[in-house]
Amino acid sequence: MTKEEILIAYKEGKYEISEALSLLSAAAKDTSEALASNESKNKNIFQNMIYENVLTPLSTVAHHHDVECIERYFSEKFPAHLAIHRVNDAPEQKREYTELHVHQEQEINIIVGDKDVDLIYEVQLEDETYYVKSNSTIWIPSGIRHSCNVVKGSGYYIALRLNPDSDMDERFINNFEI
Ligand SMILES: [Fe+2]
Repeated sequence: MTKEEILIAYKEGKYEISEALSLLSAAAKDTSEALASNESKNKNIFQNMIYENVLTPLSTVAHHHDVECIERYFSEKFPAHLAIHRVNDAPEQKREYTELHVHQEQEINIIVGDKDVDLIYEVQLEDETYYVKSNSTIWIPSGIRHSCNVVKGSGYYIALRLNPDSDMDERFINNFEI
């Protein structure tokens, strides 16, 4: 079976994700045997569950602009929207690189400071503003206007968007490399 056939059958509910993965694994083995001379194809199939996050500008995301003190790491292929922001020595300052925005996905924000360093974010939720210090997690329900902008510090800010209505496993299969 080809990946496309497996994806269609999965969408039609003919297979559970584990069965679809077994079929993808078999398809990958076929492909690697056909391309035996190409060693890079002889990989473990579950390698497809490991994603490399690459440096991707903040300005590629709607309602966001680049800011000097943040490096954003992201994988286009990851089934959910997961962005990891490395904050480097942000001097205390009001910043507005993230505009107030809304989306239908729920969002989780995680603020982790470096050892012995406070990382502080200005978080707006609807009409209320909070100064949130590491280490904190923020749950943003779907449809809530929000923005998060670093005020000062060093560490990591992780943003994960969830969408219970979308089939993330389908996206996972679709992005599977065989
Ligand atoms: Fe958001």
